[in-house]
Amino acid sequence: MKEPKQLSVSAIESGTVIDHIPASSLFKVIQILRLDNIPNQITFGTNLESKTDGKKAIIKIAGVFFEDEDINRIALVAPKAKLNIIRDYEVIEKKVVEVPDTIHGIAKCMNPKCITNFEKVPTRFRVTSKKPIALKCHYCEKITDQERLEII
Ligand code: CTP
Ligand code: ZN
Repeated sequence: MKEPKQLSVSAIESGTVIDHIPASSLFKVIQILRLDNIPNQITFGTNLESKTDGKKAIIKIAGVFFEDEDINRIALVAPKAKLNIIRDYEVIEKKVVEVPDTIHGIAKCMNPKCITNFEKVPTRFRVTSKKPIALKCHYCEKITDQERLEII
Protein backbone atom coordinates (compact mmCIF):
# COMPACT_ATOMS: atom_id res chain seq x y z
CA MET A 1 0.00 0.00 0.00
CA LYS A 2 1.19 3.50 -0.86
CA GLU A 3 2.01 5.76 2.10
CA PRO A 4 -0.37 8.69 2.32
CA LYS A 5 1.43 11.85 1.34
CA GLN A 6 0.91 15.55 1.71
CA LEU A 7 0.21 17.41 -1.51
CA SER A 8 1.77 20.88 -1.62
CA VAL A 9 -1.01 22.02 -3.93
CA SER A 10 -4.49 20.43 -3.70
CA ALA A 11 -5.44 17.57 -6.00
CA ILE A 12 -7.69 18.35 -8.94
CA GLU A 13 -10.72 16.43 -10.16
CA SER A 14 -9.93 16.66 -13.85
CA GLY A 15 -7.44 18.48 -16.01
CA THR A 16 -3.68 18.71 -16.48
CA VAL A 17 -0.87 18.81 -13.94
CA ILE A 18 2.47 20.03 -15.27
CA ASP A 19 5.18 18.91 -12.89
CA HIS A 20 8.97 19.29 -12.83
CA ILE A 21 9.08 22.81 -14.22
CA PRO A 22 12.31 24.59 -13.20
CA ALA A 23 11.20 27.25 -10.68
CA SER A 24 12.90 29.92 -12.79
CA SER A 25 10.70 29.00 -15.79
CA LEU A 26 7.30 29.06 -14.10
CA PHE A 27 6.15 32.41 -15.45
CA LYS A 28 7.55 31.68 -18.91
CA VAL A 29 5.46 28.50 -19.02
CA ILE A 30 2.39 30.50 -17.94
CA GLN A 31 3.15 32.98 -20.72
CA ILE A 32 3.80 30.35 -23.42
CA LEU A 33 0.57 28.48 -22.62
CA ARG A 34 -1.31 31.81 -22.30
CA LEU A 35 -2.70 30.73 -18.94
CA ASP A 36 -3.24 34.34 -17.91
CA ASN A 37 -6.08 34.49 -20.38
CA ILE A 38 -8.30 31.53 -19.56
CA PRO A 39 -11.26 31.32 -17.17
CA ASN A 40 -10.36 27.88 -15.75
CA GLN A 41 -9.19 27.30 -12.19
CA ILE A 42 -5.41 27.26 -12.02
CA THR A 43 -3.24 26.57 -8.99
CA PHE A 44 0.51 26.57 -8.84
CA GLY A 45 3.34 26.09 -6.43
CA THR A 46 6.91 27.18 -6.84
CA ASN A 47 10.28 26.73 -5.15
CA LEU A 48 9.14 23.26 -4.11
CA GLU A 49 11.76 20.68 -3.24
CA SER A 50 12.46 18.21 -6.03
CA LYS A 51 14.33 15.01 -5.21
CA THR A 52 16.13 15.12 -8.53
CA ASP A 53 16.70 18.66 -9.69
CA GLY A 54 16.71 21.52 -7.24
CA LYS A 55 13.73 23.81 -6.91
CA LYS A 56 10.75 23.02 -9.06
CA ALA A 57 7.36 24.47 -9.86
CA ILE A 58 4.07 22.75 -10.58
CA ILE A 59 0.96 24.04 -12.34
CA LYS A 60 -2.50 22.46 -12.14
CA ILE A 61 -5.07 23.53 -14.69
CA ALA A 62 -8.61 22.27 -14.09
CA GLY A 63 -10.68 21.22 -17.08
CA VAL A 64 -7.98 21.72 -19.71
CA PHE A 65 -6.40 18.98 -21.84
CA PHE A 66 -3.71 20.38 -24.13
CA GLU A 67 -2.84 19.34 -27.67
CA ASP A 68 0.69 17.86 -27.84
CA GLU A 69 1.66 20.57 -30.30
CA ASP A 70 0.75 23.31 -27.83
CA ILE A 71 2.28 21.71 -24.79
CA ASN A 72 5.56 20.94 -26.58
CA ARG A 73 6.15 24.68 -26.91
CA ILE A 74 7.18 24.70 -23.24
CA ALA A 75 10.08 22.30 -23.92
CA LEU A 76 12.39 25.25 -24.62
CA VAL A 77 12.11 26.44 -21.01
CA ALA A 78 11.05 23.24 -19.21
CA PRO A 79 12.65 20.31 -21.04
CA LYS A 80 12.05 17.91 -18.12
CA ALA A 81 8.41 18.81 -17.57
CA LYS A 82 6.08 15.89 -16.92
CA LEU A 83 2.42 16.03 -17.73
CA ASN A 84 -0.19 14.16 -15.77
CA ILE A 85 -3.66 13.88 -17.25
CA ILE A 86 -6.26 13.66 -14.49
CA ARG A 87 -9.80 12.33 -14.69
CA ASP A 88 -11.99 11.57 -11.64
CA TYR A 89 -9.03 12.40 -9.36
CA GLU A 90 -6.91 9.67 -10.98
CA VAL A 91 -3.78 10.10 -13.08
CA ILE A 92 -4.88 8.36 -16.29
CA GLU A 93 -1.89 9.28 -18.43
CA LYS A 94 1.66 10.60 -18.06
CA LYS A 95 3.51 12.37 -20.86
CA VAL A 96 6.85 14.06 -21.33
CA VAL A 97 7.42 17.12 -23.47
CA GLU A 98 9.36 17.00 -26.72
CA VAL A 99 11.22 19.85 -28.41
CA PRO A 100 9.34 20.56 -31.68
CA ASP A 101 11.05 20.72 -35.11
CA THR A 102 10.03 24.32 -35.65
CA ILE A 103 9.45 27.19 -33.25
CA HIS A 104 7.17 30.13 -34.05
CA GLY A 105 7.54 33.05 -31.67
CA ILE A 106 8.64 32.33 -28.06
CA ALA A 107 12.38 32.77 -28.74
CA LYS A 108 14.34 35.84 -29.78
CA CYS A 109 16.87 35.72 -32.63
CA MET A 110 20.36 36.48 -31.27
CA ASN A 111 21.35 38.43 -34.37
CA PRO A 112 20.82 42.14 -33.61
CA LYS A 113 20.60 42.86 -37.35
CA CYS A 114 17.83 40.31 -37.91
CA ILE A 115 14.59 41.78 -39.27
CA THR A 116 12.71 40.24 -36.32
CA ASN A 117 14.63 42.53 -33.98
CA PHE A 118 13.70 45.82 -35.57
CA GLU A 119 10.38 45.21 -37.30
CA LYS A 120 7.16 43.67 -36.07
CA VAL A 121 7.94 40.30 -37.64
CA PRO A 122 7.34 37.27 -35.39
CA THR A 123 10.39 35.00 -35.09
CA ARG A 124 10.52 31.64 -36.87
CA PHE A 125 13.17 28.98 -36.35
CA ARG A 126 14.07 25.48 -37.46
CA VAL A 127 15.40 23.38 -34.58
CA THR A 128 18.80 22.10 -35.74
CA SER A 129 19.68 20.48 -32.39
CA LYS A 130 17.38 19.47 -29.56
CA LYS A 131 19.95 18.83 -26.84
CA PRO A 132 21.51 21.28 -26.34
CA ILE A 133 19.00 23.44 -28.18
CA ALA A 134 20.06 25.23 -31.37
CA LEU A 135 17.63 27.28 -33.42
CA LYS A 136 18.25 28.40 -36.99
CA CYS A 137 16.48 31.62 -37.89
CA HIS A 138 14.18 31.43 -40.91
CA TYR A 139 15.02 35.04 -41.84
CA CYS A 140 18.75 35.57 -41.20
CA GLU A 141 19.88 31.91 -40.94
CA LYS A 142 21.95 32.67 -37.82
CA ILE A 143 21.98 30.09 -35.05
CA THR A 144 20.65 30.93 -31.59
CA ASP A 145 22.05 28.38 -29.16
CA GLN A 146 21.00 27.32 -25.68
CA GLU A 147 23.30 29.83 -23.96
CA ARG A 148 21.99 32.78 -25.90
CA LEU A 149 18.39 31.65 -25.86
CA GLU A 150 16.07 34.44 -24.71
CA ILE A 151 12.34 33.98 -24.36
CA ILE A 152 10.12 36.82 -25.57
N1 CTP B 1 -2.28 15.10 -8.92
C1 CTP B 1 -3.27 16.06 -8.73
N2 CTP B 1 -4.57 15.70 -8.66
C2 CTP B 1 -4.93 14.41 -8.72
C3 CTP B 1 -3.95 13.41 -8.88
C4 CTP B 1 -2.61 13.81 -8.98
O1 CTP B 1 -2.98 17.25 -8.68
N3 CTP B 1 -6.22 14.10 -8.60
C5 CTP B 1 -0.88 15.52 -9.05
C6 CTP B 1 0.01 15.06 -7.91
O2 CTP B 1 0.00 16.05 -6.91
C7 CTP B 1 1.36 14.99 -8.58
C8 CTP B 1 1.03 14.64 -10.03
O3 CTP B 1 -0.35 14.93 -10.21
O4 CTP B 1 2.00 16.24 -8.54
C9 CTP B 1 1.30 13.22 -10.37
O5 CTP B 1 0.58 12.39 -9.50
P1 CTP B 1 1.13 10.95 -9.11
O6 CTP B 1 1.44 10.20 -10.35
O7 CTP B 1 0.16 10.34 -8.16
O8 CTP B 1 2.41 11.36 -8.28
P2 CTP B 1 3.87 10.75 -8.32
O9 CTP B 1 3.79 9.29 -8.17
O10 CTP B 1 4.66 11.53 -7.32
O11 CTP B 1 4.31 11.12 -9.79
P3 CTP B 1 5.76 11.33 -10.40
O12 CTP B 1 6.70 10.48 -9.63
O13 CTP B 1 5.59 10.94 -11.85
O14 CTP B 1 6.04 12.80 -10.22
ZN1 ZN C 1 17.24 36.06 -37.31
